[in-house]
Amino acid sequence: MDPALLRRTAEIAAEYLSSLPERPVRAEASLEELRSALRVGLDEAPRPALEVIEELVAVADPGLMGSQSPRYFGFVVGGALDSAIAADWLTSVWDQNGGGFLLGPSASVAEEVACEWLLDLLGLPADAGVGLTTGCQMAHFTCLAAARHRVLADAGWDVEADGLFGAPPIRVLVGSKAHTTVFAALRMLGMGSRRVELIAADDQGRMRASELERMLAAGEGPAIVIAQVGEVNTGAIDAMPEIAQLAREHGAWCHVDGAFGLWAAASPALRTLVDGVSDADSWATDAHKLLSVPYDSGVAIVRDRAAHAAAMNSFAGVEYIPEPQHDERYSAEWVPEFSRRARGFAVYAALRELGRQGIADLVERCCRCARLMAEELARDPRATLLNDVVLNQVLVRFATDGVNVTDEVIDAVQREGTCWMSGTEWEGEPAMRISVCNWRTTEDDIRRSATAILAQAGAVAQASR
Ligand SMILES: Cc1ncc(COP(=O)(O)O)c(C=O)c1O
Repeated sequence: MDPALLRRTAEIAAEYLSSLPERPVRAEASLEELRSALRVGLDEAPRPALEVIEELVAVADPGLMGSQSPRYFGFVVGGALDSAIAADWLTSVWDQNGGGFLLGPSASVAEEVACEWLLDLLGLPADAGVGLTTGCQMAHFTCLAAARHRVLADAGWDVEADGLFGAPPIRVLVGSKAHTTVFAALRMLGMGSRRVELIAADDQGRMRASELERMLAAGEGPAIVIAQVGEVNTGAIDAMPEIAQLAREHGAWCHVDGAFGLWAAASPALRTLVDGVSDADSWATDAHKLLSVPYDSGVAIVRDRAAHAAAMNSFAGVEYIPEPQHDERYSAEWVPEFSRRARGFAVYAALRELGRQGIADLVERCCRCARLMAEELARDPRATLLNDVVLNQVLVRFATDGVNVTDEVIDAVQREGTCWMSGTEWEGEPAMRISVCNWRTTEDDIRRSATAILAQAGAVAQASR
């Protein structure tokens, strides 16, 4: 062990984090530059660890995206809290196998407690099963595996033992603006991404509950309904009270994609936005978005613990793993992995650093900053706001003389470097997505970014004359 290396690494990390407010948000190096800097040929002989790290930092730094920056608004990417970063470092240093109590007692209990806190904060049933996954996609996978187990078990089929060959078909009803990861999870579970029944959405991307009602009534058999709180472009929230009620009436499992939107439940001021969400059967969310845990950190929550464990448990009956005697936690019962990183430490630390009030403030601040961004941009006649800013997402389009120039504006803003966001297509046309998801972002960052975006929109307009 080389203490000098770990101290130097801590110094590098602190310097990096303190450079964020003024460092350009974009990555500076091109693909070719990074390939030629990193592809040095595999050494024959070992090298001193400190040298390896110093060199890695020197070549990687120009290609780092400033996704921890207070003015990074790309995709839906959270910034990491100090305690969560430190706990994540220690997770590597301690290097516990997070698979279960016997392999890492502290890891197992920290995870157990973090999971209890998550249920409490999100207003979900205290006895639900919880698994800490890599992200929301694997949280969908976990929850939908539990759903698949339950709806088929109710139809007299043991999917874990007998697979899907010859099983009763499962109807899967999904809003047409569901996130791509829902379809990926369905694909991996053998339920197919193409055979889903798509439910029409409104102009904000919300599933139409009346359409769901019609489609549910038009068929029969085991069914799973997949709703969403927080559409990736608009942040729109499905009508959960109606959707959960309809699913219940038709004996269908109701799963919710709440990657970021579920966190509204942690704020007394925003909670009513997700009314009815706790009536669902399973929920997938992320800790690496609004909760500000470093990548990667997702959360799968399932009301029916027995279905959850039946779908995931990979150690029951294995001769070299003793049965839990005191209900001690084995994460291998709740997630797809057997051995894994001890994910609970960083989640535990983030929840302790913020506390109930800190989390509510963080979520409310991100939503307030998104509204401010929308107001600032909407002052410019070239900008058209495309969404109702209900959460932390802003969707905007730029036009000059009736021509959509959004992609050009995004490109110019990314190159200029004050802030960074990416694009999407909305109603068949390019649009700019702005996601405020970082605990560091202040109203000043928003004003500074809005000024930079509008300056680039002006420059693009000038150039196109
Ligand atoms: C609504 C929604 N669902 C799912 C995901 C996927 O999350 P992850 O990247 O953690 O798998 C995202 C990512 O932004 C999202 O916005």
